[in-house]
Amino acid sequence: MSEHIVYSKDGAVASLRFNRAEKKNAITATMYEALAAGLADAAASSEVRVLAILGGEVFTAGNDIADFVSAATMAGGKVEDLAVVTFLRQLAAFPKPIVAGVKGVAIGIGTTLLMHCDAVVAGHSARFALPFTKLALVPEAASSLLFPLIAGRMRASWYLLSGEQFDAATAYELGLLTKTCDDADVDGAVALMCGTLAQLPAHALATTKRLLKAPFAHLVDAAFAAEFEAFGAALRSSEAAEAFMAFMRR
Ligand code: COA
Repeated sequence: MSEHIVYSKDGAVASLRFNRAEKKNAITATMYEALAAGLADAAASSEVRVLAILGGEVFTAGNDIADFVSAATMAGGKVEDLAVVTFLRQLAAFPKPIVAGVKGVAIGIGTTLLMHCDAVVAGHSARFALPFTKLALVPEAASSLLFPLIAGRMRASWYLLSGEQFDAATAYELGLLTKTCDDADVDGAVALMCGTLAQLPAHALATTKRLLKAPFAHLVDAAFAAEFEAFGAALRSSEAAEAFMAFMRR
C-alpha cells in the first residue's frame, strides 16, 4: 500500500481515500497500484458489500504530470503496461456498489473515474474538468463512451473537446452526480448511502449492478482499447511533452 492511498474496512463498507494533500492528490503509478490492490481486496472480501471512494479538501488533480513524463519515456512505451490501466479495468469490473464523495477539484481521471461509480455525492465547492486536449492528450477511462451516455453527446463533446471546467451544479445537471450538498456533509452523505446499501441483500445488489452495466460492458472494453492506443501515441507526442514541461516549470 502507498501512504498516499488509505484503504480501510469498517464492517461491510470498505473505503479508498486519496491522501496526498500537498500535491492536490495527484495520482502516481504507486497510487494506482495501491488503488488496484484495495479494489482487489474489497472485491474478494466476503464481508465487504460496498466501497466508498473519497478525497480530502480536494478529490484529485488527476494523473501526476511528472508521472506522465516517465510513462511517455518508459521502455517499450505500451500504455497497457501502466498501473493506471490495471486500476481502470478493475474499477470497471468491480462487482459491488461504489459510492464516491467529491470536494474541491476532480480533474482528468478524477472526473472520469466517477463515471464508473454507482453513486456520486459532491460538495458545492466541487470543480470538474477534463483538460486532456489542453495537454495534447485524449480521453481515457472509457469517458469517450460513458460521458456521452451520461450527459448526451453535445454536452460531453464540449467538455471533452474544450477542457472547460464545470461546477457541482452543472455536473449534477449533466447527470454525473447523484446529489450535491455542503462540503462538510459529503463524507457523512457517502457513509449514509453506503450504510443503506450495505443492509440490502448482497446478491441482489451485485446482480442489479451487473444488469445495469451489462449492456455497455463490451462497449467499455472496446473504448478502453481504442483510447489506450490513442492515449499512448498522444503521450509520446512533442506537444504533450511541452505541455507537461510547461506545468512543471510554473
Ligand atoms: N501532477 C503533479 N503535481 C500536481 C498536479 C498534477 N496533476 N496537480 C497539482 N500538483 C502539485 C503542484 O505542482 C503543486 O506542487 P508544489 O507545491 O510542489 O509546487 C501542488 O500540487 C499544489 O498545486 P497548485 O497548482 O499550487 O495548487 P492550486 O490550488 O493553485 O491549483 C490545480 C490546483 C489542481 C487547479 C492545479 O494544480 C492544476 O491545474 N493541476 C493540474 C491538473 C491537471 O492538468 N491534471 C491532469 C489531468 S489529465
